[in-house]
Amino acid sequence: MEITQKPWGFTPEGEAIILYTLTNSSGASVEVANLGASLISARVPDREGVLADVVLGYSDWKSYIGDGPYMGKSVGRYANRMGGARFSLDGIEYLLPPNEGRNQLHGGAATLANKIWEARVESNRVVFSISSPDGEGGYPGNMTAETAYHWSDECELEIVYSAECDAPTVANFTNHAYFNLAGEASGSVLGHLLQLNASKFVPTRPDNIPTGELWQVEGTPMDFREAKALGRDIDADYPQITDAAGYDRCWAIDGWRRNILGEAGVLTDPVSGRRMTILTSQPGIQLYTGNFLQGSPAGKSGRPYANRDGVALECQGFPDAPNHPNFPDQTLKPGERYIQKIVYKFDVLQS
Ligand code: BGC
Repeated sequence: MEITQKPWGFTPEGEAIILYTLTNSSGASVEVANLGASLISARVPDREGVLADVVLGYSDWKSYIGDGPYMGKSVGRYANRMGGARFSLDGIEYLLPPNEGRNQLHGGAATLANKIWEARVESNRVVFSISSPDGEGGYPGNMTAETAYHWSDECELEIVYSAECDAPTVANFTNHAYFNLAGEASGSVLGHLLQLNASKFVPTRPDNIPTGELWQVEGTPMDFREAKALGRDIDADYPQITDAAGYDRCWAIDGWRRNILGEAGVLTDPVSGRRMTILTSQPGIQLYTGNFLQGSPAGKSGRPYANRDGVALECQGFPDAPNHPNFPDQTLKPGERYIQKIVYKFDVLQS
């Protein structure tokens, strides 16, 4: 494993943005950056051994600053939405600055996705760490958080999120990369096959806030238990899809057990043969088909992305869980350690 680093750019505050490249023994590589502890690229082989970058991104570092799509970012303190931008813990109500109508999305304007994290390079991983002061984003307690990226010779990208806090709080971290296994500039992902180990999903109101129920996927266009093309049912007349202009919901991973790594699903590009298996310790996976990518900054090739040119598969706790006692608990208490893992494992489907 070789890890190199180079200066990439500067934030408006003059902090250096550094790009780290982890190259494994087969020549496959990933790039990560300290801005938002983000995943910038993953160059992995197709069935002929040809490498392509399967992670969407921008043509220049400036575009990563405060971007709407959260391209490749580590999202926290609370990924996804908090309804009414509020939650209660131990009888205290916390009001969060809203950034999407009345609600908060991805930790709000103070999101850790837009901050510079400290970095250290270890033998085969890059570890980003950050301190988030009490009240940042509206969340209680001084939090320290880490995002560690480990890249293996077997093309497994392991991301470990950990956090501690000096007061009771909530935490929900995810990675927000958009994938296109044909290569980031290949256009629509609707021909990719997706399989999810999920027989239920989290339905929401039209503003994407969970109703608190879990619905069976059976008999609905949300059913990915058998691999199917992302495009097969995406235009179905089904409010949980039409309200979001495509897929943008959280699926509840079958058999989830706290602190156990389980398989969430598999994404395959039948043309290149590239396959990505997703494992996680988290209870949910948000499938977001890049429904609003259009209008975002130019892509790596210089051309703008169109809607549905990439798919985000964000392993996470359920959205708005602090407001739904029946959802898996995202509370973090002093003396405890939040620790969650996501693995994106790349290989090829032989034809
Ligand atoms: C959300 C989408 C949102 C996107 C970019 C996803 O995680 O589910 O609704 O548009 O992030 O902000």
